[in-house]
Amino acid sequence: MAIDYQERIPNNVDLGSDRSLQRALEHWQPRFLEWWKGMGPTDFQSADVYLRTAVSVDRKGWASFGHVKMPDYRWGIFLAERDQDRVIGFGDEHRKPVWQQVPGEHRSTLRRLIVTQGDTEPASVEQQRLLGLTAPSLYDLRGLFQVNVEEGRHLWAMVYLLHAYFGRDGREEAEELLQRHSGDQDKPRILGTFNEPISDWLSFFMFTFFTDRDGKYQLMSLAESAFDPLARTCQFMLTEEAHHMFIGHTGLARVTKRTLEVMDELGTEDPEAIRRAGAIDLPTIQKYVNFWFSSALDLFGSESSSNAALYFAAGLKGRPNEAQFEDHLALDQSYRLETPDGRGGITAEDIPLRNAMNEATRSAYVQECQIFMDRWNDTIERAGYSFRYRLPSSRFRRSIGVWAGTCTNLDGQPISHEAFEAARDAWLPTEADRAFVHSLMQAVTEPGKMAAWIAPPDRGINNLAVDYEYVRLA
Ligand SMILES: [Fe+2]
Ligand SMILES: [Fe+2]
Repeated sequence: MAIDYQERIPNNVDLGSDRSLQRALEHWQPRFLEWWKGMGPTDFQSADVYLRTAVSVDRKGWASFGHVKMPDYRWGIFLAERDQDRVIGFGDEHRKPVWQQVPGEHRSTLRRLIVTQGDTEPASVEQQRLLGLTAPSLYDLRGLFQVNVEEGRHLWAMVYLLHAYFGRDGREEAEELLQRHSGDQDKPRILGTFNEPISDWLSFFMFTFFTDRDGKYQLMSLAESAFDPLARTCQFMLTEEAHHMFIGHTGLARVTKRTLEVMDELGTEDPEAIRRAGAIDLPTIQKYVNFWFSSALDLFGSESSSNAALYFAAGLKGRPNEAQFEDHLALDQSYRLETPDGRGGITAEDIPLRNAMNEATRSAYVQECQIFMDRWNDTIERAGYSFRYRLPSSRFRRSIGVWAGTCTNLDGQPISHEAFEAARDAWLPTEADRAFVHSLMQAVTEPGKMAAWIAPPDRGINNLAVDYEYVRLA
């Protein structure tokens, strides 16, 4: 029986016209589903979840909403519209036509970039697989699953590129994307952070705020790529990614709001009293910020990177919003980089701008994170409290780049290892902090009800009420 493939994999890439590609993806699809059932959200595969599904790339209406069981979600392949006149926006090939095929000399580099991006998508689903058991509300449970199915779709997006443009190697890489698993001893995910389980909801909101935002900046850089199918794929992924960060920043705002309410009710800022009332004290949230921000910064790579220079020169990976820059060649310019001097101090060196592309992207990211800190601090100030959130210095607790291995305080001043260890418990979540946060994680499944540590959202999804039954548990 002929399968109507248009029905099975929604797409806007005319999949039906390429028989062998169609067959290859047909072959991969059941393996993906097997992975989803084994490694995706636990226990909720038969629940009806109010999800949005991408149905086109039209800005006005690209998604449809409705209750679906997650294994029936229609993972599809969507690329932004092709711009026939698009030219390369930066690097040595500036202004030449973009590529519709992979140039031989960039084949392995592009494959590596796509595989690395692709690997993070299923990794995050695996990291979050147990969270559904402790969701603070049905609204949040639905948010988690929306993120999860879309990360699954992002995997599809990368697998499509591997299958369509990288032949046999690409198909093998697509298989391996399902064989590596987060935290697996033998076959871990490629990037370190993606091997840490996310077992509480404060961490989930931190992850969607900080780590998905790194994802956004990586996608923005790849959306500038001279390899046009990659650029168009990433452009559409960004549309979905925005919602993941929405879940992060609104989640953290709601946790803060609830804590402030409890502080008002109790008439105290005493962390112990706030904890006894079942909310998360602001200093503990700050420690989670210190932890997650510093680990997200590592994802941008080293401050000075010859790979980044190579990607830029070749047109493989640009700067986010490359068009906003005046000079797209970035030649004969330097970037002032502060590095440890090896004697407990700081020194500065000038490096070629092309080598500093990771740092340029990281700086834009830090600025965006700061906007939200300022916003939450306004809320705290209006509530009449003196506490303020802050981002630690981007030198703090780094494992990658020029500051890796150098201990600093939150301001980025180098300190001794002993001084760092002495302050560690004040700066980063302790076992006791984590145990406390974990103790709050109890599932709330009555529509409209929230766990005691988080305020309700201002509004529901897709103009529905907050107490709508976003997940019908089976
Ligand atoms: Fe993603
Ligand atoms: Fe995401």
